Amino acid sequence: MRVLQVASEATPFAKTGGLADVVGCLPDALSRLGCDVTLVIPAYREVLSKGFEIEHTGLSFEVPLGTRRLQAQILRGRLPGCSAMVFLIANDECFDRPTLYGGAEDYPDNAERFIFFSRAAIELAARQDRPFDIIHCHDWQTGLVSAYQKLLYRSSPMLSQSRTVLTIHNMAYQGLFWHWDMLLTGLDWKYFNWQQMEFYGQLNLLKTGLVFSDAISTVSPNYAREIQKAPGGHGLEGVLASRSDVLRGIVNGIDTTVWNPGSDPHIPRLYSAHDFDAGKYAARVALAARLGHAAPDARPLVAFVGRLVEQKGVEFIVELMSRMAGSGRAHFIVLGTGSRSSEEALQRVAASFPGTIDLIIGFDETLAHLVQAAADMMLMPSLYEPCGLTQLYALRYGTIPIVRATGGLVDTIVDTTPETLHNKTANGFSFTAFDSLALEHALTRALDAHRNRELWSGLVQQAMGQDWSWDASAREYLQLFRETQARTPATVR
Ligand code: ADP
Ligand code: GLC
Repeated sequence: MRVLQVASEATPFAKTGGLADVVGCLPDALSRLGCDVTLVIPAYREVLSKGFEIEHTGLSFEVPLGTRRLQAQILRGRLPGCSAMVFLIANDECFDRPTLYGGAEDYPDNAERFIFFSRAAIELAARQDRPFDIIHCHDWQTGLVSAYQKLLYRSSPMLSQSRTVLTIHNMAYQGLFWHWDMLLTGLDWKYFNWQQMEFYGQLNLLKTGLVFSDAISTVSPNYAREIQKAPGGHGLEGVLASRSDVLRGIVNGIDTTVWNPGSDPHIPRLYSAHDFDAGKYAARVALAARLGHAAPDARPLVAFVGRLVEQKGVEFIVELMSRMAGSGRAHFIVLGTGSRSSEEALQRVAASFPGTIDLIIGFDETLAHLVQAAADMMLMPSLYEPCGLTQLYALRYGTIPIVRATGGLVDTIVDTTPETLHNKTANGFSFTAFDSLALEHALTRALDAHRNRELWSGLVQQAMGQDWSWDASAREYLQLFRETQARTPATVR
């Protein structure tokens, strides 16, 4: 099966969050199942400056964008350790910028940038010498691809038989733009209606993808249920419910080579489930040195690593630390970057407890690995969480997740109770209420459990022994592709 993956980020080329980790791994996992996979991403400045082996293909073509025509230059690279080919679409006006999507504010021309990218990706597919069976797109940035395939490219020999699949990584980001941006898409105004591309007067690129794709998936079965209702669907619950026959939830896998305490180059002492104490202690010493402390704190280390945005429950973490940092029961470390208000709230509480809270504002992959290895517990009090990878990395590093029971966190984390300890399914602590007291209660349960060395070792070993690799998830994607291929696509009017 020939599969084209189209996405706006992919590890190790360019990353702002879990989407990149998924898109960076899936091609290899699918290749190992016999698929012939090609990936297309934008050639951001970040990608070109990292020193990857990237060459010009010599192919370049014009892409219509409203009344303008922009040049797309096609570059080529490879995903490290994987046979999948990567095409990078270069256009300096769109992608030669300091960040992927903007800073505190999105770039004002993100509609242009990703309409251009989607159109260039489908045009590139049409110019290949062998057809793609499946075009697998991710999130709003690629929402238009399925519409282009169905409306503009249905007579292209390379695309007429292709089926499109859209994976939703986050319903909160929909690519909503003012209605005049419809002109940039090159599609007929008749599609700007409430059943197709319009959403309360605006152009909605995610909705477009949900409507035109032959199949839809999201990154956990529980999130697939949540998004068919309010508030999980963020206004698109009706569209999703109407397509429930082709909607599936597939839990993300993790890259077990990159996230492996047994071979991680970013940690000072490699470890496994049998000597996690020694490995974690060495990581703690290295982390303390890196943060300028003379010695590591002996108290349990409770971490948060992630985007500092409302979704991640940053407010709960701030409230939790304001109440608990004075208790002396734990040391906290927060690594993240995000909204200015979240960063400032964290800075205020960290300044009040200098010996107990370490706050690192920034995006630092190496440090993320060291924190995962050093910490005892990982906080994920998310308001919603499509899948979450941080808790899966934590499990692998023997760092017990403390999560709000939502989305993929429900599918991956089993609360510690006498019963789940007995049947050996416990791997974390979870709570449901939307407040920091519930988080505090869960953390207190975890800290109490941590005092019982035998119980805690059993929990860590259980967590570290679980298999969250891509194998099973990739097989589910392949099954989804096969089913989608076998179905006759709906005709679009
Ligand atoms: P999301 O995609 O919603 O951000 P995930 O848990 O799926 O959440 O994935 C987050 C990914 O981004 C993980 O690989 C995590 O380590 C990484 N990450 C997030 N913030 C940072 C940061 N400040 N520094 C380094 N890595 C980060
Ligand atoms: C999104 C979600 C996160 C998920 C990731 C990869 O960013 O917020 O839960 O793990 O995509 O699918």
